[in-house]
Parts: sequence; structure tokens; C-alpha cells
Amino acid sequence: MRARTANSLLFLSAGITSALAQGTASQWGQCGGIGWTGPTVCPAGWGCSVVNPYYSQCLQGAASAPATTSAPATTSAPTGSSGGGGGPSQTSTASSGTTTLVPGNSFIRAAEDPNFHKYLQSEVLGTASDAVLGDPSAAAQFVITNGQLVQQLPTPLYAIVEPRANSTVMKLKVTWSTTLASSGTFSWSGDTVLWDNPSVPRQQNNAWLVCPDANGNRDLYVNLGAYAYNTPAGCADETIHAYTGSTATP
Ligand SMILES: *[C@@H]1O[C@H](CO)[C@@H](O)[C@H](O)[C@H]1NC(C)=O
Repeated sequence: MRARTANSLLFLSAGITSALAQGTASQWGQCGGIGWTGPTVCPAGWGCSVVNPYYSQCLQGAASAPATTSAPATTSAPTGSSGGGGGPSQTSTASSGTTTLVPGNSFIRAAEDPNFHKYLQSEVLGTASDAVLGDPSAAAQFVITNGQLVQQLPTPLYAIVEPRANSTVMKLKVTWSTTLASSGTFSWSGDTVLWDNPSVPRQQNNAWLVCPDANGNRDLYVNLGAYAYNTPAGCADETIHAYTGSTATP
């Protein structure tokens, strides 16, 4: 009886997986990771290689690693469209420099070196300046609502992705603005932050870059290319993720 139950479950979950993950991932494309619901099969001659818990990638000639695509229960997705009515939950405890998470908000952090557990924030804390990854002690708090990534401050800041100047531009800078503007749509996939804009083709909407500026700040960019492929000089590939622990841990 026990075996039969297990078999049924296995069958059921295989059915769900194939329903969600139809098709074949692209060359250099994502093929697995926590929260990934896209294709897990790579093109012929390509294998699915684990880059980190959040990201597996099709690599030429790689041996496919065992699929580890199911999300652990601990990485619960941020509750979707918070906000509904009265706007962002504004509270002074979400100001710069605090690390106690206000319920309903998320920290956002990178999961790969060299920016492992660096947290999204403003370059000049709490102000409309460049979007950077920085120390946990200065982690900002966020919601994604109506396609906008909102930094939760008494005066909210909205993430704005710069327009693409021409087709040779492969990364787009992210800045914080006190003004709501439509520069594309932010969303969660599980706990992973996505951005898309129908007029800006991307190979994958979860690929980000962190590129140091002249002062060593870790500026955040949308990566219009594939994750970990043709990475611009000086930049590091990152995916960025919600973290809803009560404090921003290193
Ligand atoms: C594309 O835009 C970038 C950034 O504005 C600029 O540096 C570059 O010269 C432009 N290239 C072409 C071919 O227009």
C-alpha cells in the first residue's frame, strides 16, 4: 500500500513537472533551479549543469546533473500582489540602516559570488540614487506590486530600468526614483526577481549583472544576454532573490 501510494505520487509529480516544463531549454539557457518552472531538457549535445541552487544552465557537452528543481519549503514565495488598497505599508522601521523585516516586505539579495548575500538598497541610503547590492546592515525592504519594484520607505522609491539606447547595449542600469514610471514589469518567480519589457528582447528575464562603478559601488543592471555568457567586462552574473528572514543575514 505504501509503495503504491509512493508510485502514485511519483506519477502525479512527474505529470505536473512535464506539464510545467514543456519544451527544450535554449543553448546557455536556464534548465533548473529553485523556483524554475521552465524546460529542464537541454538541446542535443548540451547538458544541464548546476550553477547554484537557484540556477542550472545548459552547457555544451556538460553532463546533466540530477534535476533538483523543486523548491524547498523554506523558500516561500513572497505573497504576490500585496498592497491592494492603501499603497505600500509605510513604516519608519523600514528606513535605511535597519535589518528588521516588516511583515509583508522582502529583502532582496544575490546568491552567487562575488556578491553572495549582498542586499539590494540605494547607493545613497534611502534616497533616489543608483540601485546597488551592499551590506546586510543597510538592506532595504521591498514589495512588488502592479509590476513595480517598490523600496519601502516613508516616501517609496520605485525601481526604474533605463531605456535601451540601441541594439548593441546589453545591460540596462537600474536606479531608484521617487516617481512612478513605466520602465517594464517586475515580478516574482518563486523568490526570484524577474523583469521584462515586451519591447526589450531578453534571453531570460531573471538574469542580472552587478558591475562596480568608479567608487566600488556594486551597481545593479538588467542583463539582456544570457546568464553567465558573454558577461560584460568587470561585471558579475547574478540572480536576485527575496529573503524574508526577520533580519538581513550575511
Ligand atoms: C549605442 O548606445 C551606447 C550607449 O548610449 C553608445 O555608447 C553607443 O555608441 C551606441 N552605439 C551605436 C552603434 O549607436
